[in-house]
Amino acid sequence: MTANEKANIASFLDLAGDYLSGGFRRPREGYAFADDPADKKNPADAKFPAETESLPELPAVTETTEQSPTGEGDSLEAVAAEIAACTRCGLCSTRTNAVPGEGMRRPLVMVIGEGPGADEDETGRPFVGRAGQLLDRMLDSKGRIGLSRNSNCYIANIIKCRPPGNRTPQPDEITACVSYLVRQIKILKPRVILAAGNTAVKTLLDSTEGITRLRGTFTFFRGTLLMDADFNIPLLPTFHPSALLRDESLKAPVWEDMKALRAKLCELDGDYAARMADIPL
Ligand code: URA
Repeated sequence: MTANEKANIASFLDLAGDYLSGGFRRPREGYAFADDPADKKNPADAKFPAETESLPELPAVTETTEQSPTGEGDSLEAVAAEIAACTRCGLCSTRTNAVPGEGMRRPLVMVIGEGPGADEDETGRPFVGRAGQLLDRMLDSKGRIGLSRNSNCYIANIIKCRPPGNRTPQPDEITACVSYLVRQIKILKPRVILAAGNTAVKTLLDSTEGITRLRGTFTFFRGTLLMDADFNIPLLPTFHPSALLRDESLKAPVWEDMKALRAKLCELDGDYAARMADIPL
């Protein structure tokens, strides 16, 4: 600001002050202001650097992880870190560990269960209790299905924290949590989803139909309800391994489901088909 501009403002303020305190103009000495130094001048007066010099390279604008429709720019590590710090629902106050999921990147199969139980809560790893050990046996089936979290599967759940007493997750808990799973699906891009049990199937297919009717038939996880991208991932509903532990009679239909899974993977993946070619069912 110049000395002249400052003097005009001071004169106006003095005039206003005189008016408010009785209306008589008091005599004043001249004002002694100096111009601002160059670097304090009104930025509006400054020359835009583009006029005088080339602009520095601007960093590329990156989408935030939540906005990316394809998972680009997002990572499993980022999702896991957010889950570990999550307080979106009341389950954060009773968990020991959040359980984001584990397994291989770009898996043939992403197994999606309901939510962590006691063993998972204690270890921070999915499906490590009795149901998890049975799941591992189902996936491998003595080499006849040939799937494992150590080589070609990723294992996760609809919700990432244990509900007290292993109760079924409540709708508000699923709503709060499911975007983490959506991000994991986008990042992993599995060839097939194996949805284990009612909670997983109903959530992923947005269906009210029960598992007994839906199991064993491939459908598509299109994702349009849960995701901002249109995915077409073959999804096979099957019984939850905990249900098999309670009811042995479910083993036969689950074996049928595992065979259907193998057949679908042989269609979709040449390497898997070649590996399984010599292994009889
Ligand atoms: N049941 C589930 O649904 N998920 C687990 O991780 C363990 C048991």
